[in-house]
Amino acid sequence: MPYAKIIGSGGYLPPRVVSNDDLAVELAERGIETSDQWIRERTGILQRHLVEQGVKTSHLAVKASQIALDDAGLAASDIDLIILATSTPDFIFPSTACIVQAELGAKNAAAFDVQAVCSGFVYALTTGETFIKAGRAKNVLVIGAEVFSGILDWNDRSTCVLFGDGAGAVVLSASDEPGVVGAQLNADGTQMNILAAAGNVSHGVVVGDPFLRMDGQAVFKFAVNSLAQSAHEVCEQAGVQLADIDWMIPHQANLRIINFLGRKLGIDSSKVVVTVDRHANTSAASVPLALDVARKDGRIQPGHLALLQGVGGGFTWGSVLVRM
Ligand code: UT7
Repeated sequence: MPYAKIIGSGGYLPPRVVSNDDLAVELAERGIETSDQWIRERTGILQRHLVEQGVKTSHLAVKASQIALDDAGLAASDIDLIILATSTPDFIFPSTACIVQAELGAKNAAAFDVQAVCSGFVYALTTGETFIKAGRAKNVLVIGAEVFSGILDWNDRSTCVLFGDGAGAVVLSASDEPGVVGAQLNADGTQMNILAAAGNVSHGVVVGDPFLRMDGQAVFKFAVNSLAQSAHEVCEQAGVQLADIDWMIPHQANLRIINFLGRKLGIDSSKVVVTVDRHANTSAASVPLALDVARKDGRIQPGHLALLQGVGGGFTWGSVLVRM
């Protein structure tokens, strides 16, 4: 049975950088008070990248995918499956994955979206690995891409300062060498109300609330506890110790969550990849973006063991252990 190995990665952030100070000025014009100090102290976020009006998720996904394909040394026609994780698709349908397939010219690929909010990339990576292990795909493009700025209530300071836009992608390929060595996914729909954008379009009108709403403190506690448990479970499944992990790449929602988690697991902060300071929370894009940053800056080397973790709306959470 072949392994599924990450052979390339790419990340793309829209060029418009909005610092906390810039955002505080913009929000003040609407009568909403926030500050760089509050955002920095509570979240570790210093800035975020935001799209210009009209830029869609597929646009970011295509850019990240092209970089990942180049990095893997593959052509778009080599890809036989595209799995795109997003909560901010371009349309109700077709799937954003199909739009990306067309833009890339990946004419031999099946394509579908995965919806698991901030756990989306971990869900999509696990799905891609399963296709490869079953012999149903050889080269899978796994993407996390979001334009969360479009579902934020810019009058709600408790959420709008936390998120950014972006996309990350990896190429997962059948290999005789170990790649994904463990995967563990979870959901608890009874917790759906602590983080949701509970709206839809029906009969041509918006029904419900189209904006993201969150009980921040409930999410905080749930995230730390669920990710700690998931890390233990995936290590047990793979027969490795937490001490064997070279790099922890958790969902980038809040530096305090990441630090709590690292301490709870006894993983030194020098082994934790952090991008939330520069990217803010990009939901399904956060893990592949962070992975790409740490591969490209030389921290993650071939043979290293990386723990990728997602947590978010649903509630969903999970972990993937990858031998790079
Ligand atoms: O992908 C998963 C998605 N989300 C997360 O992981 C988020 C998890 N939760 C968190 O990161 C934190 O709960 C937050 C960063 C969202 C909030 O931090 P907190 O320490 O839990 O703050 P809080 O909600 O208890 O609010 C404290 C105060 C409140 O004022 P009062 O009631 O004490 O007077 C808020 O109104 O901070 C106020 N506040 C703000 N002040 C300035 C809330 N947002 C802001 C803001 N600027 N942007």
